[in-house]
Amino acid sequence: MTPDATARLRFREMTDGDLDAMAELLGDPQVMAYYPAPMPRGQAAAWISWNQRNYAEHGYGLWIVETLEGDFVGDCGLTWQQVNGASALEVGYHIRTVHQGLGYASEAAAACRDFARDVLGEGRLVAIIHPENLPSRRVAEKIGMVYVDDIESGRDGARTVLGMELSGTS
Ligand SMILES: CC(C)(COP(=O)(O)OP(=O)(O)OC[C@H]1O[C@@H](n2cnc3c(N)ncnc32)[C@H](O)[C@@H]1OP(=O)(O)O)[C@@H](O)C(=O)NCCC(=O)NCCS
Repeated sequence: MTPDATARLRFREMTDGDLDAMAELLGDPQVMAYYPAPMPRGQAAAWISWNQRNYAEHGYGLWIVETLEGDFVGDCGLTWQQVNGASALEVGYHIRTVHQGLGYASEAAAACRDFARDVLGEGRLVAIIHPENLPSRRVAEKIGMVYVDDIESGRDGARTVLGMELSGTS
């Protein structure tokens, strides 16, 4: 179960065979600029395992995003996170630096939003973003999200949450 392909991108589940590609993506200091540190290979393997557990438990997670020709673009998908003391479905995205600035994250995130609404029947979607990560915030805004007050952001300013209601957005 994945979102349908878009005009330029397709989705598939991560496998252990994606470790080289995912280690390069998550080990890139530019891609991980707003995370504590780039991930070593072992953490990239754990990232793949986490998503495989999510596929098994929920039927979805972060998926591999590739061009229709099969070039690895990054990952994008849906995971459960905590916002204001409750579980919230989050759309997340990481795009290889060579493929950034082409609208791929917005295109993939919009497909995940539609999947959450139309296939999963979810009513709400969020994005949890480092306050200085303006490209990520812009992607969230481009798919229809607006700023959401959340307890943790107020506590230490460590994150910004954007969100949207999904009903009536199709
Ligand atoms: C965030 C990220 C996924 C965006 O991917 P992308 O494919 O380049 O995104 P898009 O091309 O769809 O859109 C990016 C938008 O941000 C805008 N943008 C880029 N740099 C910006 C900046 N410094 N300030 C404000 N907006 C900026 C772009 O102009 C574009 O908006 P526009 O279409 O209105 O012009 C990518 O930068 C990335 O992988 N970053 C590292 C991982 C990460 O931080 N993920 C998010 C974790 S919350």
